[in-house]
Amino acid sequence: MIRCLGAADAAAYRAIRLEALERCPENFGASADIEGAQPLAWFAERLAGSHVFAAGGDPLDGVIGLRPQEAPKLRHKVLIWGFYVRPAARRRGLGAALLGHAIAAARGLVEELRLSVAAENAAAIRLYEAAGFTAYGREPRALRVGGRDVDELLMALRLDQLS
Ligand SMILES: CC(C)(COP(=O)(O)OP(=O)(O)OC[C@H]1O[C@@H](n2cnc3c(N)ncnc32)[C@H](O)[C@@H]1OP(=O)(O)O)[C@@H](O)C(=O)NCCC(=O)NCCS
Repeated sequence: MIRCLGAADAAAYRAIRLEALERCPENFGASADIEGAQPLAWFAERLAGSHVFAAGGDPLDGVIGLRPQEAPKLRHKVLIWGFYVRPAARRRGLGAALLGHAIAAARGLVEELRLSVAAENAAAIRLYEAAGFTAYGREPRALRVGGRDVDELLMALRLDQLS
């Protein structure tokens, strides 16, 4: 079952979020050492003020976030962020289910979903393309991780054009 996390889920969310940042540094703009230094209340506050969906209990099996844009000129689109499935739970359809849940939650609220993904992350790109996302650009050297530059693909899904 996929649910929207709240402040009470802060400890479980913190654990999976830090695992994601530690295991896959090239897949996230955030850094494990910086978020790892934050108190539990910081994670509780993030959950209270955002849309983070997850599956599993404690530990959580997977998470995905939606980040609405507040500025009036950006409000027609929402960013997908913080998408991660624990290795033991992968290749069983959970990633597709989380992405589908996020798409359904955004439909009717905004016109477009946007995301960026490491250009070398073939698994995630396949998943996004299967959900209807298309690449509209590539940002060279989007991240510098341990001295290595990582390009990102910029992808979008027009929700107002879905049947
Ligand atoms: C990307 C990720 C979320 C996929 O989660 P998952 O639960 O394994 O995904 P699913 O089982 O729903 O797979 C859905 C589809 O994605 C693609 N896919 C997933 N893992 C893949 C892999 N290792 N190799 C190739 N394709 C893969 C396939 O098309 C798959 O469909 P199929 O199983 O019918 O072939 C997971 O691998 C992950 O957390 N990776 C590390 C973090 C990350 O890359 N996050 C995205 C940042 S933008």
